[in-house]
Amino acid sequence: PYSADASEVFVIIGAGQTGATAAAEMRQQGFSGRIILIGEEPHLPYERPPLSKDVLLQPANTRCQIYPDTFYSDNAIELRLGHRVTDLNLTLRQVVLANGEVTPFDKLLLATGSRVRRYPLLDRLERDVYTLRTLDDAEALKPVLQPGKRILIVGGGVIGLELASSAVDLGAQVQVIEQAPRLMGRGAPLVVADYLQESHRQRGVHFHLGAGLISAERGDGEIVLTLDNGMCLSGDAVIYGIGVELNTELASAAGLAVDKGVLINEHCRTSHPSIYAAGDVASQWNPALEQYVRLETWENAKNQAIAAAQSMVSGVARSFEVPWFWSDQCGMNIQLAGSSVAQEWLVRGQLSDSRFTLIGMTDGRVVGAVTVNNGRDMRSVKTLIASQASPDRALLLDSTKDLRRLVC
Ligand code: APR
Repeated sequence: PYSADASEVFVIIGAGQTGATAAAEMRQQGFSGRIILIGEEPHLPYERPPLSKDVLLQPANTRCQIYPDTFYSDNAIELRLGHRVTDLNLTLRQVVLANGEVTPFDKLLLATGSRVRRYPLLDRLERDVYTLRTLDDAEALKPVLQPGKRILIVGGGVIGLELASSAVDLGAQVQVIEQAPRLMGRGAPLVVADYLQESHRQRGVHFHLGAGLISAERGDGEIVLTLDNGMCLSGDAVIYGIGVELNTELASAAGLAVDKGVLINEHCRTSHPSIYAAGDVASQWNPALEQYVRLETWENAKNQAIAAAQSMVSGVARSFEVPWFWSDQCGMNIQLAGSSVAQEWLVRGQLSDSRFTLIGMTDGRVVGAVTVNNGRDMRSVKTLIASQASPDRALLLDSTKDLRRLVC
């Protein structure tokens, strides 16, 4: 249905969740020009959340492709996979690929995302050191997570803890080294971090919190990490997840406004009128908060991609949603929405039941929420957060009352 020689050309750099979703949405919006989706990984666009979980635990039957193989040709989306963009030229309106191929564009979406933050102290070991960001990374990890293997995990964030959970499921022995005095410092309230730590501990995970690495050496068939508290830990392999770095280099080199992320307005437009950005790499102006907000979540990759595509096609983008993400650890589903910082966290239900909801309150208003095995509360609490509601405390705390009744 789409004419290959239609006049306009939209180029998307980055074929992850953001890039693929944006391409699909452009067609959904009726765009009939060319769409060229360029990605440096060789695989068809896939989802990353299963990489630390199902891909490791159920390798045989996990498909994490975002769209089926035929989707791209069916929708006249031209894929350039296994190609890295080396130059973005705003004056000539063209991108140059590593193989020298030049692709002109009318509008361009930067969906370049982020990459693993490297830890040179550990990379120096060369062998038995792993990180997890890509499908290839997950494939490399599969043979490592075996019964009885001693796994040292550096970083107690989302990746570190989800890997700890999967490694234990696969029979490995796990120790986690985290430099902060607590786990999941980037996005979870302390009460949730403590709860998760105890859940992992009961499954045999050893934690070393507030511990920095002094050295990493290869011993007699093993790796030895020395911590700044004097402890030496030995293991068969090290996996680290110490956060990400943003792929902003192309944007910076092209002279776009970048301040940690690529700065975009409410319509996902960068400082150049024909260039848009979305996903991990983008830092978006939020008029309600009067600040730029950058989110590293699956949901944001998807929603911001849709907004950017709409904006590129019709000039109008969808409005903001409450930030939300989930993590699966120790057999539990944890969902977090809104702010992880609140004056007080109300507990709906009992922590000991492994099924409860925490509601973050600041100045009497609902600002954040965490559900543990209780996702049915999520839609209601998101509405309460979005409307800055100040419901009655007793009603919030009464877990026998359906939260939906508080939401008009
Ligand atoms: N030694 C030990 N721990 C460290 C060090 C270090 N040198 N440097 C950082 N850390 C810790 C941080 O304190 C933090 O707790 O590593 C953790 C990193 O956690 P995240 O920021 O959650 O990053 P990560 O777990 O690597 O996840 C990367 O993948 O799933 C997505 O949303 C997630 O975008 C995020 C990305």
